Amino acid sequence: MREIVTKDGSLTFYNESYDEAYHSISGALEEAQKKYIEPCQIQDGMAILDIGFGLGYNVAMAVHSAKHLTIVSLEKDPSVFSLIQSIAVPLWFRPSYALVQKAAAKRSYNDRDYGIRVIEGNAEESIKAVDVRFDAVFLDPFSPKNNPELWAEAFLRDVFARMKPCARLATYSCAGMLRRNLRSAGFEVVDGPIVGRRAPGTVGIKE
Ligand SMILES: C[S@@+](CC[C@H](N)C(=O)[O-])C[C@H]1O[C@@H](n2cnc3c(N)ncnc32)[C@H](O)[C@@H]1O
Repeated sequence: MREIVTKDGSLTFYNESYDEAYHSISGALEEAQKKYIEPCQIQDGMAILDIGFGLGYNVAMAVHSAKHLTIVSLEKDPSVFSLIQSIAVPLWFRPSYALVQKAAAKRSYNDRDYGIRVIEGNAEESIKAVDVRFDAVFLDPFSPKNNPELWAEAFLRDVFARMKPCARLATYSCAGMLRRNLRSAGFEVVDGPIVGRRAPGTVGIKE
């Protein structure tokens, strides 16, 4: 896969099948922090559902931000699990990323502070077997145009059912279709942060 240096200096890759990069060119690690960790208000003790594990940046940023986390990641493309073993990240991010590299290699990681499970397969199916209740959800598929199944109302309903009251879902997209589907699935919808481009992300709250 072609490597891209994003504007904050962190790396992302270009996925030929989806014809898209894994992250915003304006800054891959910045996107993880500003579009997922901050709007989800990640703090110690949370359970997080990570939809689209990809290069594992969102999970590693959560690990960097808080302790005693339970994380369940859904990912259908097994090629990312070997790809991420060789990605160079900034020094300050290395300890958190090393832990996520271990989780990707074995599909799970457990220590005193973190329990991470990476479920390989189509998230539309694998979500049905997830019995954890989550405080936060990272919804990070490719674009609605190229990856429609994970923006669909049916999938969002399955996500909603696995969230605790007051839990928050964050995503980079502000597409009208996504927001309608979130509302139909039961979410309260508000603007997420504006990062790197003019349009805001979206936050869905289970009131
Ligand atoms: C934009 S990337 C995610 C980037 C990632 N969150 C990160 O922090 O590096 C989208 C990911 O969703 C995965 N994906 C797409 N459709 C999927 C599906 N139906 N089920 C599970 N994973 C899927 C892709 O393989 C890709 O790794």
